Amino acid sequence: MIEKIKALLSEIEQLKASSIEELEAARIKYLSKKGIISALMDDFRTVPVEQKRELGMRVNELKQKATEKIQLLKEQFEHNGSSYTETDLSRTAYPVPLGTRHPISIVKEEINDIFKRLGFSIAEGPEVEDDWHVFSSLNFADDHPARDMQDTFFIQSDPQIVLRTHTSSVQTRVMEKTKPPIRIICPGRVYRNEAISYRAHCFFHQVEALYIDEDVSFADLKQALLFFAKEMFGEETKIRLRPSYFPFTEPSAEMDISCNICGGKGCPFCKHTGWVEILGCGMVDPNVLENCGIDSNVYSGYALGMGIERITNLKYQVKDLRMFSENDLRFLEQFQSAN
Ligand code: DAH
Repeated sequence: MIEKIKALLSEIEQLKASSIEELEAARIKYLSKKGIISALMDDFRTVPVEQKRELGMRVNELKQKATEKIQLLKEQFEHNGSSYTETDLSRTAYPVPLGTRHPISIVKEEINDIFKRLGFSIAEGPEVEDDWHVFSSLNFADDHPARDMQDTFFIQSDPQIVLRTHTSSVQTRVMEKTKPPIRIICPGRVYRNEAISYRAHCFFHQVEALYIDEDVSFADLKQALLFFAKEMFGEETKIRLRPSYFPFTEPSAEMDISCNICGGKGCPFCKHTGWVEILGCGMVDPNVLENCGIDSNVYSGYALGMGIERITNLKYQVKDLRMFSENDLRFLEQFQSAN
Protein backbone atom coordinates (compact mmCIF):
# COMPACT_ATOMS: atom_id res chain seq x y z
CA MET A 1 0.00 0.00 0.00
CA ILE A 2 2.89 2.29 0.81
CA GLU A 3 4.27 1.76 -2.70
CA LYS A 4 0.89 2.64 -4.16
CA ILE A 5 0.71 5.86 -2.13
CA LYS A 6 4.25 6.84 -3.24
CA ALA A 7 3.36 6.25 -6.88
CA LEU A 8 0.21 8.35 -6.50
CA LEU A 9 2.16 11.16 -4.82
CA SER A 10 4.56 11.48 -7.72
CA GLU A 11 1.68 11.22 -10.18
CA ILE A 12 0.00 14.15 -8.47
CA GLU A 13 3.19 16.17 -8.38
CA GLN A 14 3.47 15.87 -12.14
CA LEU A 15 -0.21 16.40 -12.73
CA LYS A 16 -1.00 18.83 -15.58
CA ALA A 17 -4.26 19.88 -17.15
CA SER A 18 -4.63 21.62 -20.47
CA SER A 19 -8.26 22.59 -19.98
CA ILE A 20 -10.68 23.18 -17.16
CA GLU A 21 -12.50 19.98 -18.19
CA GLU A 22 -9.33 17.96 -17.86
CA LEU A 23 -8.75 19.42 -14.44
CA GLU A 24 -12.28 18.48 -13.36
CA ALA A 25 -11.67 14.94 -14.59
CA ALA A 26 -8.50 14.78 -12.49
CA ARG A 27 -10.38 16.05 -9.45
CA ILE A 28 -12.98 13.32 -9.90
CA LYS A 29 -10.28 10.73 -10.43
CA TYR A 30 -8.41 11.51 -7.22
CA LEU A 31 -10.68 13.35 -4.85
CA SER A 32 -14.33 12.42 -5.49
CA LYS A 33 -16.24 9.96 -3.31
CA LYS A 34 -15.59 7.22 -5.83
CA GLY A 35 -12.04 8.42 -6.49
CA ILE A 36 -8.69 6.74 -5.86
CA ILE A 37 -8.08 8.39 -2.51
CA SER A 38 -11.49 7.42 -1.14
CA ALA A 39 -10.78 3.87 -2.24
CA LEU A 40 -7.49 3.99 -0.35
CA MET A 41 -9.32 5.12 2.74
CA ASP A 42 -11.55 2.08 2.40
CA ASP A 43 -8.54 -0.21 2.08
CA PHE A 44 -7.05 1.45 5.12
CA ARG A 45 -9.68 -0.18 7.36
CA THR A 46 -8.29 -3.59 6.57
CA VAL A 47 -4.59 -2.93 7.29
CA PRO A 48 -3.01 -4.44 10.42
CA VAL A 49 -3.18 -2.20 13.51
CA GLU A 50 0.60 -1.71 13.77
CA GLN A 51 0.69 -0.15 10.26
CA LYS A 52 -2.34 2.06 10.78
CA ARG A 53 -0.49 5.03 12.23
CA GLU A 54 2.06 5.40 9.44
CA LEU A 55 -0.33 4.59 6.63
CA GLY A 56 -2.94 6.95 8.07
CA MET A 57 -0.43 9.79 7.96
CA ARG A 58 0.57 8.96 4.41
CA VAL A 59 -2.98 8.77 3.08
CA ASN A 60 -3.78 12.10 4.72
CA GLU A 61 -0.66 13.63 3.21
CA LEU A 62 -1.65 12.33 -0.20
CA LYS A 63 -5.14 13.77 0.11
CA GLN A 64 -3.79 17.13 1.17
CA LYS A 65 -1.23 17.27 -1.67
CA ALA A 66 -3.86 16.33 -4.24
CA THR A 67 -6.27 18.99 -2.96
CA GLU A 68 -3.55 21.65 -3.01
CA LYS A 69 -2.36 20.73 -6.48
CA ILE A 70 -5.82 20.78 -7.98
CA GLN A 71 -6.56 24.12 -6.29
CA LEU A 72 -3.28 25.51 -7.68
CA LEU A 73 -4.08 24.41 -11.22
CA LYS A 74 -7.57 25.87 -10.86
CA GLU A 75 -6.15 29.25 -9.80
CA GLN A 76 -3.81 29.21 -12.78
CA PHE A 77 -6.74 28.73 -15.09
CA GLU A 78 -8.64 31.56 -13.45
CA HIS A 79 -5.64 33.87 -13.68
CA ASN A 80 -5.01 33.07 -17.34
CA GLY A 81 -8.68 33.60 -17.94
CA SER A 82 -8.40 37.16 -16.60
CA SER A 83 -5.22 37.87 -18.57
CA TYR A 84 -7.16 36.77 -21.61
CA THR A 85 -9.66 39.58 -21.04
CA GLU A 86 -6.76 42.06 -20.75
CA THR A 87 -6.22 41.71 -24.45
CA ASP A 88 -9.81 42.78 -25.03
CA LEU A 89 -9.18 46.07 -26.84
CA SER A 90 -12.63 47.41 -26.12
CA ARG A 91 -12.01 47.31 -22.37
CA THR A 92 -11.37 50.62 -20.54
CA ALA A 93 -7.69 51.11 -19.71
CA TYR A 94 -6.41 51.06 -16.14
CA PRO A 95 -5.86 54.63 -14.92
CA VAL A 96 -2.17 55.60 -15.05
CA PRO A 97 -1.32 58.16 -12.36
CA LEU A 98 -0.01 61.34 -13.97
CA GLY A 99 3.29 62.78 -12.74
CA THR A 100 3.61 66.51 -12.20
CA ARG A 101 6.19 69.02 -13.14
CA HIS A 102 7.42 71.24 -10.32
CA PRO A 103 5.63 74.62 -10.21
CA ILE A 104 8.98 76.42 -10.46
CA SER A 105 9.76 74.46 -13.66
CA ILE A 106 6.32 75.19 -15.08
CA VAL A 107 6.71 78.94 -14.53
CA LYS A 108 10.35 78.95 -15.68
CA GLU A 109 9.33 77.30 -18.96
CA GLU A 110 6.56 79.85 -19.39
CA ILE A 111 8.97 82.78 -18.88
CA ASN A 112 11.48 81.16 -21.26
CA ASP A 113 8.79 80.68 -23.90
CA ILE A 114 7.71 84.32 -23.77
CA PHE A 115 11.25 85.58 -24.23
CA LYS A 116 11.95 82.99 -26.92
CA ARG A 117 9.09 84.53 -28.90
CA LEU A 118 11.02 87.83 -28.73
CA GLY A 119 14.09 86.15 -30.19
CA PHE A 120 15.99 85.41 -26.97
CA SER A 121 17.91 82.18 -26.57
CA ILE A 122 18.84 80.40 -23.35
CA ALA A 123 22.28 80.70 -21.75
CA GLU A 124 23.52 78.93 -18.66
CA GLY A 125 26.43 79.42 -16.31
CA PRO A 126 27.95 77.82 -13.19
CA GLU A 127 26.34 78.10 -9.75
CA VAL A 128 29.76 78.08 -8.10
CA GLU A 129 31.28 81.28 -9.44
CA ASP A 130 34.26 83.54 -8.99
CA ASP A 131 34.06 87.02 -7.55
CA TRP A 132 34.69 88.61 -10.95
CA HIS A 133 31.55 87.26 -12.61
CA VAL A 134 29.23 87.70 -9.62
CA PHE A 135 30.45 91.09 -8.41
CA SER A 136 33.49 92.88 -9.86
CA SER A 137 32.61 92.73 -13.56
CA LEU A 138 29.12 93.94 -12.67
CA ASN A 139 30.43 97.14 -11.13
CA PHE A 140 29.96 96.19 -7.47
CA ALA A 141 32.17 98.44 -5.31
CA ASP A 142 34.64 96.66 -3.04
CA ASP A 143 32.61 97.64 0.01
CA HIS A 144 29.21 96.73 -1.45
CA PRO A 145 27.07 94.97 1.20
CA ALA A 146 26.39 92.01 -1.12
CA ARG A 147 30.04 91.08 -0.72
CA ASP A 148 29.45 90.61 2.99
CA MET A 149 29.47 87.13 4.53
CA GLN A 150 25.98 87.79 5.81
CA ASP A 151 24.55 87.92 2.32
CA THR A 152 26.75 85.60 0.32
CA PHE A 153 27.96 82.02 0.76
CA PHE A 154 31.71 81.99 0.32
CA ILE A 155 33.33 78.76 -0.81
CA GLN A 156 36.93 79.91 -0.91
CA SER A 157 38.64 83.17 -0.04
CA ASP A 158 41.70 83.43 -2.29
CA PRO A 159 40.83 83.60 -5.12
CA GLN A 160 37.34 84.34 -3.98
CA ILE A 161 34.77 81.72 -4.99
CA VAL A 162 31.11 82.07 -4.03
CA LEU A 163 27.73 80.52 -4.69
CA ARG A 164 26.23 82.95 -7.18
CA THR A 165 23.79 85.36 -5.57
CA HIS A 166 22.11 86.23 -8.86
CA THR A 167 21.99 85.04 -12.45
CA SER A 168 23.49 88.36 -13.63
CA SER A 169 26.82 86.49 -13.49
CA VAL A 170 25.78 84.66 -16.67
CA GLN A 171 25.46 88.01 -18.48
CA THR A 172 29.15 88.73 -18.08
CA ARG A 173 30.15 85.19 -19.01
CA VAL A 174 28.24 85.50 -22.28
CA MET A 175 29.35 89.08 -23.03
CA GLU A 176 33.01 88.12 -22.56
CA LYS A 177 32.72 85.44 -25.22
CA THR A 178 30.16 86.80 -27.69
CA LYS A 179 30.22 89.67 -30.15
CA PRO A 180 26.90 91.62 -30.13
CA PRO A 181 24.09 91.39 -31.01
CA ILE A 182 23.40 89.37 -27.86
CA ARG A 183 19.90 88.38 -26.89
CA ILE A 184 19.84 85.84 -24.06
CA ILE A 185 17.84 84.70 -21.06
CA CYS A 186 19.56 82.96 -18.18
CA PRO A 187 17.35 80.88 -15.91
CA GLY A 188 18.92 79.26 -12.87
CA ARG A 189 19.31 78.71 -9.17
CA VAL A 190 20.88 81.33 -6.92
CA TYR A 191 21.96 81.31 -3.27
CA ARG A 192 21.83 83.84 -0.44
CA ASN A 193 22.76 83.56 3.17
CA GLU A 194 19.26 84.10 4.54
CA ALA A 195 17.52 82.55 7.53
CA ILE A 196 14.88 80.21 6.12
CA SER A 197 11.31 81.31 6.75
CA TYR A 198 8.00 81.36 4.89
CA ARG A 199 9.17 84.40 2.94
CA ALA A 200 12.92 83.83 2.45
CA HIS A 201 15.08 80.86 1.55
CA CYS A 202 18.80 80.30 1.19
CA PHE A 203 18.29 79.28 -2.43
CA PHE A 204 15.78 80.35 -5.03
CA HIS A 205 15.52 80.82 -8.80
CA GLN A 206 15.93 83.74 -11.15
CA VAL A 207 15.63 84.47 -14.82
CA GLU A 208 17.82 87.16 -16.28
CA ALA A 209 17.44 88.72 -19.70
CA LEU A 210 20.08 90.64 -21.62
CA TYR A 211 19.90 92.41 -24.96
CA ILE A 212 22.96 94.15 -26.42
CA ASP A 213 23.09 95.72 -29.86
CA GLU A 214 23.61 99.07 -31.55
CA ASP A 215 21.00 101.66 -30.60
CA VAL A 216 19.17 99.70 -27.91
CA SER A 217 17.16 102.20 -25.89
CA PHE A 218 15.06 102.36 -22.74
CA ALA A 219 11.96 102.34 -25.00
CA ASP A 220 12.99 98.86 -26.23
CA LEU A 221 13.24 97.71 -22.62
CA LYS A 222 9.79 99.09 -21.80
CA GLN A 223 8.25 97.40 -24.80
CA ALA A 224 9.76 94.04 -23.88
CA LEU A 225 8.57 94.45 -20.29
CA LEU A 226 5.03 95.27 -21.32
CA PHE A 227 4.94 92.32 -23.71
CA PHE A 228 6.22 90.00 -20.99
CA ALA A 229 3.72 91.25 -18.38
CA LYS A 230 0.74 90.86 -20.69
CA GLU A 231 1.79 87.41 -21.90
CA MET A 232 2.46 86.19 -18.38
CA PHE A 233 -0.41 87.74 -16.45
CA GLY A 234 -3.04 88.57 -19.06
CA GLU A 235 -3.85 91.24 -21.62
CA GLU A 236 -5.40 93.60 -19.04
CA THR A 237 -2.15 93.79 -16.99
CA LYS A 238 -0.62 97.24 -16.53
CA ILE A 239 3.01 97.98 -15.70
CA ARG A 240 4.76 100.85 -13.95
CA LEU A 241 8.44 101.59 -13.60
CA ARG A 242 9.98 103.11 -10.49
CA PRO A 243 13.52 104.51 -10.46
CA SER A 244 15.91 102.28 -8.56
CA TYR A 245 19.58 101.46 -8.21
CA PHE A 246 21.65 98.47 -9.28
CA PRO A 247 25.42 98.67 -9.71
CA PHE A 248 25.29 97.09 -13.17
CA THR A 249 22.57 99.22 -14.79
CA GLU A 250 22.22 102.97 -15.34
CA PRO A 251 19.50 104.13 -15.26
CA SER A 252 17.87 101.35 -13.21
CA ALA A 253 14.25 100.66 -12.46
CA GLU A 254 11.96 98.27 -10.68
CA MET A 255 8.85 97.13 -12.45
CA ASP A 256 5.48 96.67 -10.77
CA ILE A 257 2.47 95.07 -12.38
CA SER A 258 -1.13 95.78 -11.49
CA CYS A 259 -1.93 93.22 -8.79
CA ASN A 260 -3.32 90.23 -10.62
CA ILE A 261 -4.98 88.89 -7.49
CA CYS A 262 -7.32 91.85 -6.88
CA GLY A 263 -7.07 93.34 -10.38
CA GLY A 264 -5.52 96.53 -8.96
CA LYS A 265 -8.29 97.33 -6.48
CA GLY A 266 -6.12 96.64 -3.43
CA CYS A 267 -5.79 93.47 -1.33
CA PRO A 268 -3.50 92.07 1.39
CA PHE A 269 -1.17 90.58 -1.25
CA CYS A 270 -0.41 94.01 -2.81
CA LYS A 271 -0.62 95.67 0.63
CA HIS A 272 -3.65 97.57 -0.65
CA THR A 273 -1.59 99.50 -3.20
CA GLY A 274 -2.95 97.72 -6.30
CA TRP A 275 0.64 97.09 -7.49
CA VAL A 276 3.18 94.32 -6.95
CA GLU A 277 6.88 94.48 -7.69
CA ILE A 278 8.12 91.72 -9.97
CA LEU A 279 11.53 92.57 -11.37
CA GLY A 280 14.58 94.80 -11.57
CA CYS A 281 15.88 96.20 -14.84
CA GLY A 282 17.85 98.94 -16.52
CA MET A 283 20.26 99.93 -19.25
CA VAL A 284 23.53 98.01 -18.94
CA ASP A 285 26.11 100.30 -17.34
CA PRO A 286 28.86 101.22 -19.87
CA ASN A 287 31.44 100.09 -17.28
CA VAL A 288 30.00 96.58 -17.42
CA LEU A 289 30.19 96.53 -21.23
CA GLU A 290 33.81 97.68 -21.12
CA ASN A 291 34.64 95.11 -18.39
CA CYS A 292 33.53 92.43 -20.85
CA GLY A 293 35.37 93.84 -23.84
CA ILE A 294 32.35 95.43 -25.57
CA ASP A 295 32.79 98.96 -26.96
CA SER A 296 30.27 101.11 -25.07
CA ASN A 297 30.50 103.84 -27.72
CA VAL A 298 29.08 101.46 -30.31
CA TYR A 299 26.81 99.22 -28.29
CA SER A 300 24.18 99.66 -25.65
CA GLY A 301 21.78 97.24 -24.06
CA TYR A 302 19.21 96.48 -21.43
CA ALA A 303 19.05 93.83 -18.71
CA LEU A 304 16.35 92.59 -16.40
CA GLY A 305 16.15 90.01 -13.67
CA MET A 306 13.28 88.41 -11.80
CA GLY A 307 12.69 85.80 -9.12
CA ILE A 308 10.80 82.77 -10.39
CA GLU A 309 9.33 82.05 -6.92
CA ARG A 310 7.83 85.52 -6.86
CA ILE A 311 6.16 85.08 -10.26
CA THR A 312 4.95 81.61 -9.20
CA ASN A 313 3.44 83.08 -6.04
CA LEU A 314 1.59 85.63 -8.09
CA LYS A 315 0.23 82.96 -10.41
CA TYR A 316 -0.59 80.29 -7.82
CA GLN A 317 -0.63 82.19 -4.51
CA VAL A 318 1.71 79.90 -2.65
CA LYS A 319 1.88 81.38 0.86
CA ASP A 320 5.00 79.64 2.11
CA LEU A 321 8.22 79.64 0.05
CA ARG A 322 9.45 76.51 1.82
CA MET A 323 6.78 74.46 0.03
CA PHE A 324 8.83 74.73 -3.15
CA SER A 325 11.68 72.68 -1.73
CA GLU A 326 9.98 70.29 0.69
CA ASN A 327 8.90 67.70 -1.89
CA ASP A 328 5.48 67.28 -0.29
CA LEU A 329 3.37 65.36 -2.81
CA ARG A 330 0.15 66.87 -1.43
CA PHE A 331 1.48 70.24 -2.60
CA LEU A 332 3.10 69.10 -5.85
CA GLU A 333 0.13 67.04 -7.05
CA GLN A 334 -1.98 70.18 -7.16
CA PHE A 335 -0.02 71.26 -10.25
CA GLN A 336 -1.03 68.21 -12.29
CA SER A 337 -3.43 70.15 -14.48
CA ALA A 338 -0.90 72.94 -15.05
CA ASN A 339 1.47 70.56 -16.87
N1 DAH B 1 20.53 90.81 -10.11
C1 DAH B 1 19.44 91.50 -9.45
C2 DAH B 1 19.09 90.79 -8.15
O1 DAH B 1 19.48 89.70 -7.98
C3 DAH B 1 18.23 91.53 -10.33
C4 DAH B 1 18.44 92.41 -11.50
C5 DAH B 1 18.17 93.75 -11.40
C6 DAH B 1 18.92 91.90 -12.67
C7 DAH B 1 18.33 94.59 -12.48
C8 DAH B 1 19.12 92.75 -13.77
C9 DAH B 1 18.82 94.10 -13.64
O2 DAH B 1 19.58 92.31 -14.92
O3 DAH B 1 18.98 94.90 -14.72
O4 DAH B 1 18.43 91.36 -7.34
